[in-house]
Amino acid sequence: MKLLIAVPTYNEVENIESFVKLVFEHIPSNAEILVIDDNSPDGTAAAVECLAEQYDGRLHLLKRPGKQGLAQAYLAAFDWGLSRGYDVFLQMDADFSHNPQYIPVMLEKIETNEVVIGSRNIKGGGVEGWTFMRNFISKGGSLYSRLVLGCPVKDLTGGFNMWRKSALEKIHLSSIISRGYSFQIEMKYKAYFSGCSITEVPIIFEDRKYGKSKMSKKILLEAFVKIWKIKNKNKQGGLRQFIKFMITGGLGTIVNLSLFFLFADILMIHAIPVSIGCFTISATQNYILNQLWSFKMQTTGRRLSVKRWGLFMASSLLGLGVNVIVMQLILLQWNLPYKFIAQACGIAAGMVSNFILSKYVVFRKRKSNEKDI
Ligand code: GDD
Ligand code: MN
Repeated sequence: MKLLIAVPTYNEVENIESFVKLVFEHIPSNAEILVIDDNSPDGTAAAVECLAEQYDGRLHLLKRPGKQGLAQAYLAAFDWGLSRGYDVFLQMDADFSHNPQYIPVMLEKIETNEVVIGSRNIKGGGVEGWTFMRNFISKGGSLYSRLVLGCPVKDLTGGFNMWRKSALEKIHLSSIISRGYSFQIEMKYKAYFSGCSITEVPIIFEDRKYGKSKMSKKILLEAFVKIWKIKNKNKQGGLRQFIKFMITGGLGTIVNLSLFFLFADILMIHAIPVSIGCFTISATQNYILNQLWSFKMQTTGRRLSVKRWGLFMASSLLGLGVNVIVMQLILLQWNLPYKFIAQACGIAAGMVSNFILSKYVVFRKRKSNEKDI
């Protein structure tokens, strides 16, 4: 697996040279580093260009015209790496807060996971050298976002994370809305909800010795507010999902009736086999539309599968059963002027049963580490 370490820099001239040297001591011989510099006034980019000559094409520089924030820097780096065929990506700060000694451990874990998070908030992890206030902000921020987003990752705000190419593809990088540090949260949240397998490894985060942190009140405030936008943007389900499911069902019914008319009425084939055939075709169409459209948010990254098709067919059949039973119960209970009223209630009950089964069983959101069917 080919590893690319993405290192965003803004005024890191005091750190960059010794940082690059130290990282190269801890990584496999085919791994490379990409520095993304936002035209640092202190000349970080020039220092990298100079260093690159020593490292035989293994140190790259992506120069950007001005300070555009952490998210843009990383997104540009991922694009750069994805188009050049790297398999694994590591995000890392240039100020020695992220100790390269953890890289081999992370590489080992990425063999069996799509995302490996360097975590300060699990056993064995922690922070050294931060003021009480900074620690409070970070821990509080992690807890706050965890609660708001309903995402179980312990270190949501951390910036020392490894991604397999497949995880970055599942996330749909173009839909990221963060600019600053909330990027770290958004990435992990999206990875979790797109069903990536995620694991956390403990790291000790050491505060920088040289240069200044670029964290500002503005960045902090952005993160605080953006969390809600991130949540809403990725919210799936609710009424919209149900309406999509109904539209899908409606289209399925049209297809079913049209085929039935063609084969049973025009071509005069026996109604029972035609009915079974129509059900199979329209339910298959429903399966495809539901997975790719109605339940898209909870099935991203998953392919259509025979097994899930089978589950969906079973759930549709069960819906049919519910339909018939509810209709019959209503007919037995009340003396209705028209039987189709009972059938309408039966259809509604069957649809609700099929929707619930589809949402929570067939197209269920997979948790991290859970194998997909
Ligand atoms: N290119 C670019 N553009 N790089 C930037 C920018 C930017 O706008 N802002 C910061 N960086 C670079 C820094 O030069 C450094 O290498 C890295 O991003 C992290 O910036 P710091 O300013 O050192 O961040 P921090 O130490 O306050 O925060 C760290 O911990 C947070 C968790 O509490 C980072 O790892 C954050 O990502 C993380 O959220
Ligand atoms: Mn730092």
